[in-house]
Amino acid sequence: MNNIVWHQHAVTRELRAGHKGHRGAILWFTGLSGAGKSTLAGALESALHERGVHSYLLDGDNVRHGLCKDLGFSADDRRENIRRVGEVAKLMLDAGLIVLSAFVSPQRAERELVRELVADGEFIEVHVATPLEVCESRDPKGLYQKARAGEIKDFTGISAPYEAPAGAELVIDTSEGDLEAQVGRLLDYLVSGGYISA
Ligand code: ADX
Repeated sequence: MNNIVWHQHAVTRELRAGHKGHRGAILWFTGLSGAGKSTLAGALESALHERGVHSYLLDGDNVRHGLCKDLGFSADDRRENIRRVGEVAKLMLDAGLIVLSAFVSPQRAERELVRELVADGEFIEVHVATPLEVCESRDPKGLYQKARAGEIKDFTGISAPYEAPAGAELVIDTSEGDLEAQVGRLLDYLVSGGYISA
């Protein structure tokens, strides 16, 4: 960036995190539409809130009404969507929050770009690996039906690719077990990694 120099302010992220009593992190939920990303992230956020953890949930369906309302679902637009969200998540991490992000984010490279924006251990990829057949049978918004009928183009899993993560920190199939147990696994991960206290 020409003629723009990073300004190091006196209140650092370590000082901010010290006020909160927990570490910051980005929990990046990726998976097909209808896989359960928002439900899982929302339930985890409630559990974190109860424990006094400061968090923020960035959700694809909501962000696309504001920050990213100019973007569609071409590969380029999805890349830009994830780039913007990644930068916002990084700022929130810097503020000391546990950021939960729930985006299809179908491209491996774009997820890796976000991972590389932050330090080791600060990006926790959660692959919500619910099988396509299950997502399609749930079809909470009727979008799979429209995609099959050709009314929505570039629909992930039907007419656009989903590249599953190779090295996700956690893999959760929401068609197995109940929500409480799945949230329990996420909390265990955060406790054992020293992000939050038990
Ligand atoms: S991403 O691919 O750019 O990460 P994002 O998570 O923001 O997608 O938005 C996905 C949501 O938009 C889906 O849950 C679904 O409700 C809706 N949607 C509308 N069109 C599409 C499409 N072509 N592919 C996937 N999701 C779509």
